[in-house]
Amino acid sequence: MQSAQQLVKVFVTRRIPQDGMKILRQAGMCNLSVWDSDEPVPRAELLKGVTGAHGLVCLLSDRIDTEVLDAAGPNLKVISTMSVGFDHLAMDEIKKRGIRVGYTPDVLTDATAELTVALLLATARRLPEGVQEVKSGGWSTWKPLWLCGYGLSGSTVGVLGLGRIGLAIARRLMPFGVKRLLYTGRGAKPEAKEVEGEFVPLDTLVSESDFVIVSCSLTPDTQGLCDKAFFSKMKSSAVFINTSRGTVVNQEDLYEALSSGRIAAAGLDVTTPEPLPTNHPLLTLNNCVILPHIGSATYATRGTMAELTANNLLAGLTGVAMPTELKI
Ligand code: NDP
Ligand code: DGY
Repeated sequence: MQSAQQLVKVFVTRRIPQDGMKILRQAGMCNLSVWDSDEPVPRAELLKGVTGAHGLVCLLSDRIDTEVLDAAGPNLKVISTMSVGFDHLAMDEIKKRGIRVGYTPDVLTDATAELTVALLLATARRLPEGVQEVKSGGWSTWKPLWLCGYGLSGSTVGVLGLGRIGLAIARRLMPFGVKRLLYTGRGAKPEAKEVEGEFVPLDTLVSESDFVIVSCSLTPDTQGLCDKAFFSKMKSSAVFINTSRGTVVNQEDLYEALSSGRIAAAGLDVTTPEPLPTNHPLLTLNNCVILPHIGSATYATRGTMAELTANNLLAGLTGVAMPTELKI
């Protein structure tokens, strides 16, 4: 048993699944301080909580920038984020300070791919509109062209960012009878063979796809990538899906494309900001389906993410290899 002085200080920015908390507690090496709420830690509390910490467990909603790193001070050796995305972390500054970073790739790939398929089908086949019509009495009879949408059979699907999740989405979509699977990114990938993926330039993907799916990471190159020019190249019958990060999309341009009929529909699991204000123009559109960032939201996945986050943190604190360390 270690004394309080020997324990390393760890700040956890949110109530996370018990699977992870149990691991942290049982390790017996952490003096844990937890923002014990389902809501994000206020900035001032984050700055206070992290002061002098050796380890930080954070979520994608916590902006870990120079101010937070300065508040933490030189003790901080490990940041473990309960997410695969790491665009909320000031990586240059973190690297400069020699801080190690753990994240949660792979364990959420299936859940996120599954949600992407669900969102695509809900958007393309207009499920929320249909449900609403049933509830509101708008369902008068069977009508030949009422609530028609677009199907995957015989379609061309374009995946922007064929990474872990992009490939898992493609795998799930092919059995629906997809005719061509296009993808774009920084280079052709051998693993694309499995889904008969064709590596194409971005413009080709955008203009030839019936379904454009964004599953890339958020980087300076992808920020704002889906803008007016992008939407203007899409087919007018095409459906746009984004489960990556909200700022990959210029939402004003998307609103214009959807409201003018330039593209058929959009399904978003991620927006800017999050939450999207309830008076946001996109929420007035029937052809836009918006979910509250629930890609990885299965009980099992979130539990596993919390476990991995805890194990990454402990490995970092003890100076051994993390199960999943971000190469920086
Ligand atoms: P990966 O790193 O495996 O995949 C990211 C992909 O983005 C890579 O294929 C990469 O291409 C691609 N990419 C990067 N830059 C560009 C670019 N300029 N143009 C096109 N593609 C690009 O990560 P994951 O698949 O595990 O996760 C992807 C993202 O999904 C996360 O970063 C996160 O933002 C988001 N996410 C969202 C969730 C949700 O709840 N909605 C849940 C989980 C993740 P290349 O391989 O060629 O470098
Ligand atoms: C991530 O992990 O980056 C997702 O956005 C949430 O699971």
